Amino acid sequence: MNEMSKIAILASGAGSNAERIMEHFGDSGLARVVLVASENAGAYALERARRLGVEAMAFSVAELRDGRLLAELLRRQVDFVVLAGFLKLVPQAMVEAFPRRMVNIHPALLPSYGGRGMFGLHVHEAVLAHGERQSGITIHYVNGAYDSGDVIFRATCPVLPSDTPDALAERVHALEHRHYPAVIEALLRGERSYEGAVLNI
Ligand code: GRF
Repeated sequence: MNEMSKIAILASGAGSNAERIMEHFGDSGLARVVLVASENAGAYALERARRLGVEAMAFSVAELRDGRLLAELLRRQVDFVVLAGFLKLVPQAMVEAFPRRMVNIHPALLPSYGGRGMFGLHVHEAVLAHGERQSGITIHYVNGAYDSGDVIFRATCPVLPSDTPDALAERVHALEHRHYPAVIEALLRGERSYEGAVLNI
């Protein structure tokens, strides 16, 4: 039997996805979240990690860019990196250290409504401003640019005429919580499909 995979999560903010992922793998024989790291020392994601007994680490943007964060991941023998509301661009050396082993989730249907500045409520405001009738989530591999790595999985939800950005965000968040931990598990298992959809593995 292979050793358990070690997952690190990078999160800049609230960390509700990070929490779901920590819980999902809490008693798994497959993988364990060994680290939650943030460039924002006040991120609630770090507090959630501490509460769940997972190591929480703050780092500076300089440490992200000059390779010290990567060294910390390698020192802990991390196999898989999950971005969950991480707002900084991942440097190329880190992308190359985790080929097809670093994923992100975006709260819209990429390639639309992604890229620099498209985070948080900005995404949902833009979806509503364009009169879209459908939104959703995109889970994708991380490359050296925002929101543009190969897509692994998408799930959709309706956009209602009465939606505010907050209401749409809530519906999308529910989709994220349902699918992100399960898709990560499918990737770690090398499964080619999930809920009837073909995964790009
Ligand atoms: C999520 O909507 C995710 O798609 C985006 O950032 C948000 C993070 O939410 N990348 P949370 O911090 O996990 O609650």
